[in-house]
This record gives sequence, C-alpha cells and structure tokens, in this order.
Amino acid sequence: MNIFTFKQEEDFVQTGAGLIVSLLQSNPKAILGLATGSSPLGIYVRLVDMYKKGLVSFAEASSYNLDEYVGLPGDHPQSYNSFMKLHLFYHIDIDPSRTYIPNGKANDLEIECQRYDHMLEQNGPVDLQLLGIGHNGHIGFNEPDERLVGRTHVVDLLEETIEANARFFASLDEVPKQAVTMGVGSILKARQIVLLARGTEKAEAIKCALQGPITTQCPASLLQCHPNVIVLLDHEAGGLL
Ligand code: F6R
Repeated sequence: MNIFTFKQEEDFVQTGAGLIVSLLQSNPKAILGLATGSSPLGIYVRLVDMYKKGLVSFAEASSYNLDEYVGLPGDHPQSYNSFMKLHLFYHIDIDPSRTYIPNGKANDLEIECQRYDHMLEQNGPVDLQLLGIGHNGHIGFNEPDERLVGRTHVVDLLEETIEANARFFASLDEVPKQAVTMGVGSILKARQIVLLARGTEKAEAIKCALQGPITTQCPASLLQCHPNVIVLLDHEAGGLL
C-alpha cells in the first residue's frame, strides 16, 4: 500500500485527479470505478476543470459506480445517479451510454444485481477504483458484519450510515434504508484502488483499515489483501496512523 498524507487540500485533490488523468492518457479506453460522497468531490471538480482546459478526455472511457440507493429513481436529486451527472458526467465528454450505475428502482433488484455483475465481468476489470470510506469502515455500502458478500447485492444500511447520509436529505425519514452495492469481491477485482479519506471523523476507520487486522467488521481492511492500493489522506484522516 502506498499511503500519502497531505497538508493541503489542493495537493490531495491534484494527486487524485492526476492519477485518473495519467491513466486516461496512457489508456483512453480505461474503465473507471467511481464513488459518490464528499471524499471524491474535489477530485471531480478538478477533473472537470482539466477537461475544460483540454488536458484530458473521457470520450473513450467508461465508468461503473459502486452503489445506488434502493427506491430512488435515477432523477431523484439525492440519487447517486444525479450526483454523478451533476458533479461530473454533465461537464465532461464521457459517453452517457458508458456510465453505469446500479438501478435502485429496478422491479427485480436481484436481477439488477446479476445484470450489473455480468456487465462488470464482460467489460471489466475496472482499471482504477475510487473509494471513500464510511466512519464504520464500509467501502461501497458493504457494512461491517460477520460476513461480507462478494458480488453486487442489496444491503440494509446501518443506522450510523443512514444518519451520516441524512445530511443530504430534508429529514432522517427520507434517507433510503437500503442500497445496491458492488460487493467486496467486485471491488477487489479492480487493477488499482485509490482510497480517499478526509477529516478527523475518518481517522479511526483509516487506522482500522490500514493497520488493524483484516476483518469483516472493518470491510476496508480487506484492501490490505490487494496488491495495488494508493491511499490519499488529509492530515486529519491520517492523524492516528
Ligand atoms: C459512496 C460510497 C460510500 C462513501 C462513504 C464515504 O458511493 O460508496 O462508501 O464513499 O460513505 O462517504 P463520504 O465521502 O461522503 O464521507
């Protein structure tokens, strides 16, 4: 694992965006694994900026998102589908037909999960997977548990995750209680993983993930098994290492 801790947000963002831009320069058809949430946001802003300056093109790339809330239509403002369009896809030249996000509103979620895995298997592996980390060590929406699921599946979100996500909704009641998420097996198939964390509230999870035992109670600790992980942290998130 290569761990980088940054004092300046600017350097955190530039390094993350730089990894994606370098990949696309060497492989314009790269498959990006994307996350939503506050951790990658600055990186998306920087990628849009670099695209507008003509420094990168996504025209031949494709993307797979980690997860989506169950029950929210793709055009719901808080869906991850909307998040990706608003913060990245609408502003770059990626072909919308090659941006894949699980459909949390599918009639049969079981079939939707199988369909998503099938696409990943046919087209993958993902070249670079961006990951945030939950306060509880979740990656994607693979929550701490006695057992983890390898493939894309429907997950019941833990109370702490629902509370953490409530900041984007008008009330706690509106936060979806389930999500479709890529499983840890699908995530670990990526050629390279870039784990992002910012803020003191992530410090404990980062310590467990990087220095704790490998345990399903901290799903991010499974990243210790992957041969090519880059960790980008701000000073606060790296504060307990
Ligand atoms: C989002 C995702 C989640 C988040 C995690 C951290 O697609 O898969 O695992 O990465 O909950 O969220 P933020 O970055 O908002 O703190």
